[in-house]
Amino acid sequence: MDRKQRILLALEIVLISISGLLLFWLVLLKIIYRLLGRLGVNVPGPSRVSWLVDNPIRRRYTRPVLDRVGIQPGETVLELGPGPGPFTVEAARRVGPTGKLIVVVEDPRMVAEVERRVREAGLPNVETHVASAHDLPVVDESVDRVFLIAVLPEVPHQYGALDELRRVLKPGGLLSITEEFMDPDYAFPFEAVQLVEAVGFTRERYYGNFWMYTLNFGKSEGIAYD
Ligand SMILES: C[S@@+](CC[C@H](N)C(=O)[O-])C[C@H]1O[C@@H](n2cnc3c(N)ncnc32)[C@H](O)[C@@H]1O
Repeated sequence: MDRKQRILLALEIVLISISGLLLFWLVLLKIIYRLLGRLGVNVPGPSRVSWLVDNPIRRRYTRPVLDRVGIQPGETVLELGPGPGPFTVEAARRVGPTGKLIVVVEDPRMVAEVERRVREAGLPNVETHVASAHDLPVVDESVDRVFLIAVLPEVPHQYGALDELRRVLKPGGLLSITEEFMDPDYAFPFEAVQLVEAVGFTRERYYGNFWMYTLNFGKSEGIAYD
């Protein structure tokens, strides 16, 4: 083995070790989140690390993820849990001047950040609310589409929150759930399906893969959770 090959091999070993360590900590973090969840302790993403969800890697898939949500011009769309708003401005552009984007998040600092971005982008079609997923300030059957990106597992009472989403969706409306494995409280696709279908939605489409997926559900007129 010559010198160049030895350097390449050393680099490979270093890279594999770093990736292995990262994966180890990620899996450990997930186990801790799961255990805390079982004990009834919910750990919402603190706003002081909101920059974590707004980074160049995620910015690359803003458009593909919103393509999966399928927003159409003129629609009324609800974004639940936008964080600092990495998807908000693009979603508002997609509903256009005849549509409306309603943003609901329980953290006032996140709402302030979303409002700043929307103002800077000059978009008049965004309505923001500081509110909980369990008590949405939205009229019954008034929304065409709801999307949640890396939010559902953070919500403390998921059945109640999903029931609220079902209430605000128009008949035939669409609920879109996106999850990323990098998120410590990531939900596996089968878990998301079980949860959402139990509340009266029907799975329509699955996009992506284990690492990052989007599941779209239609509002079915079946049973409602109570
Ligand atoms: C991990 S961040 C994801 C932010 C953004 N969707 C993204 O993908 O970049 C989760 C967001 O859900 C919000 N959230 C968590 N539980 C909530 C609840 N019960 N009601 C409203 N918002 C909630 C948090 O405040 C935060 O903005």
